[in-house]
Amino acid sequence: MDERIISSEVNESEMSIEQSLRPQNLKQYIGQNQVKENLEIFIKAAKLRKETLDHVLLYGPPGLGKTTLAIIIANEMGVNVRTTSGPAIERPGDLAAILTALEPGDVLFIDEIHRLHRTIEEVLYPAMEDFCLDIVIGKGPSARSVRLDLPPFTLVGATTRAGSLSAPLRDRFGVLSRLEYYKEEQLTSIVMRTADLFETTIDDLSAAEIARRARGTPRIANRLLRRVRDFAQVKGDGSIHLSLAREALELLQVDRLGLDHIDHKLLKGIIEKFRGGPVGLDTIAASIGEEAETIEDVYEPYLLQIGFLQRTPRGRVVTPEVYHHFGIEVPAK
Ligand code: ADE
Repeated sequence: MDERIISSEVNESEMSIEQSLRPQNLKQYIGQNQVKENLEIFIKAAKLRKETLDHVLLYGPPGLGKTTLAIIIANEMGVNVRTTSGPAIERPGDLAAILTALEPGDVLFIDEIHRLHRTIEEVLYPAMEDFCLDIVIGKGPSARSVRLDLPPFTLVGATTRAGSLSAPLRDRFGVLSRLEYYKEEQLTSIVMRTADLFETTIDDLSAAEIARRARGTPRIANRLLRRVRDFAQVKGDGSIHLSLAREALELLQVDRLGLDHIDHKLLKGIIEKFRGGPVGLDTIAASIGEEAETIEDVYEPYLLQIGFLQRTPRGRVVTPEVYHHFGIEVPAK
């Protein structure tokens, strides 16, 4: 399903590219200023006290740099980072194996932490709180519990859905940081930085043009840049200027707000079939042949963010901005 160029999820083929572009310390990291300022203070304080950093929960939409921040936290603390994800930890033993292999002070990064099994969460509580593991040995009446000490570590959890996290787990994080969509200027700087790493020449206006269509998301900005760079190499001399960037983005069918054909289908569907709403999620899903959950988790967040869609108790409503965007007359009430 998710072959959209404006998808905020990472795709398999770009993982290694993403890694090579990652900023390695807070100074190189552009944007998320509030989060960065807080982390900087907590990291400095922990280092002064020669303690491990408190557990950190990073939450927010995909593609905004949660994994990158986890790696930066480890780099800034001068420790190793061990990376895993909620769905990858299938049994309590899997988590125990990871925890016992940590070195003092290490960062354990668990992506999609909201997808951890409850039984595994329960192993995590004493590990987070007291740096120990309670292991049950044997079965039935002769079973007994043994406490195993762990090295002190920092858990960095990441989730796109802070609301799906259980309260006991959420409460065990000392630092909760919400990542926001990036502003156009910040994305422009990120595009310039990436172009620099690619040794590609790009002017400010082209970088801003890519940034505007990147849905507030560095991952998308960098992906668009790579495609525009291909275009520049084949159709031009390799350097990126505005008319070329616009032409390339036109071909990629990403409009000037970063909307693609699926966004168009969804928004136009609501306008044409339901007079702009309100219409229920399931009804929309059936009418455009998509799963309700996909619409809610993947398609809607950005449309809500830019004020194109509203969730009301009676269903979804498109706003007048959508009519303007498509050049359709706003219907009288
Ligand atoms: N590349 C992707 N995200 C970035 C960020 N926040 N800062 C710098 N470079 C990036």
